[in-house]
Amino acid sequence: MTDAEMRDLAGKVVVITGAGSGVGRAVAVALAKHGAIPALVGRSREPLEETANLVGMAGGRPLILPADVTDEAAVTGAFDRAAEELGRIDAAILSAGIGLFGPVASYALADWQATLATNLTGPFLCAKAAIPHLRQRGGAIIAVSSGAGKQGYPQLAAYSASKFGLMGLMQGLAGEVADDGIKVSTVVPGSIMTPFGGRSVADKRAGAERDPGKKYLEPEDVAEAILFLLRQPRHAWTQELNLWPF
Ligand SMILES: NC(=O)c1ccc[n+]([C@@H]2O[C@H](COP(=O)([O-])OP(=O)(O)OC[C@H]3O[C@@H](n4cnc5c(N)ncnc54)[C@H](OP(=O)(O)O)[C@@H]3O)[C@@H](O)[C@H]2O)c1
Repeated sequence: MTDAEMRDLAGKVVVITGAGSGVGRAVAVALAKHGAIPALVGRSREPLEETANLVGMAGGRPLILPADVTDEAAVTGAFDRAAEELGRIDAAILSAGIGLFGPVASYALADWQATLATNLTGPFLCAKAAIPHLRQRGGAIIAVSSGAGKQGYPQLAAYSASKFGLMGLMQGLAGEVADDGIKVSTVVPGSIMTPFGGRSVADKRAGAERDPGKKYLEPEDVAEAILFLLRQPRHAWTQELNLWPF
């Protein structure tokens, strides 16, 4: 791909996990505004359809691909279908994630397993499914980690463990696929104004009003950072992008 081609998002096919909400939805809409074609992955069809409507209003024509990122057959099927129906895959944005918070002493094994399966095994399966398609012409794999992927916090130990693991997965993968022209990057955001972690956006906004010191990123801020990563100059690679509320 030439530098201009790499930076022009028009016509690019981008598979987005977690596309039914928050960051994934904002990325889908932002990409549609730039003429890219988002393929929307998530477990529940209804929120994906809501995202598809927003993408349509932004001028895009999305593909809906309901799939659980912890299910290898479903993930492989989703990426293969995106490539088959849209003709190519140029990038994978791995935003699907869950936040089940609580102290280790009383943390349920099922919650630990769900956290690791979604936040760590999910990106592994998605990257594995994306690579054969991206190898054909180069492209990008971008994962959404968290500040908790670089620093442990009380109540967030399982979540932190999954996101620390994700950072290592992406660092290792980056070196494996660089010669195929695939840029692997990780976004490391602080708190974002989404329903993530079990609190509604309204509650978060009300909380932010009570605590003027608490700042949040908007999902659109993270989406813009991801678009920056998709349009890096040909000879430049951003491995990690730390993004804090301001
Ligand atoms: N919000 C924050 O404060 C914050 C801060 C730092 C990092 N992050 C990270 O940012 C990413 C996006 O979070 P968000 O704030 O946008 O959260 P969100 O609004 O809750 O969105 C998460 C999305 O992931 C999907 N998902 C969950 N489990 C899935 C699975 N097994 N398979 C497929 N899709 C699945 C959900 O849809 P379904 O339930 O329908 O599958 C949902 O659409 C996450 O990786 C999160 O860890 C968030």
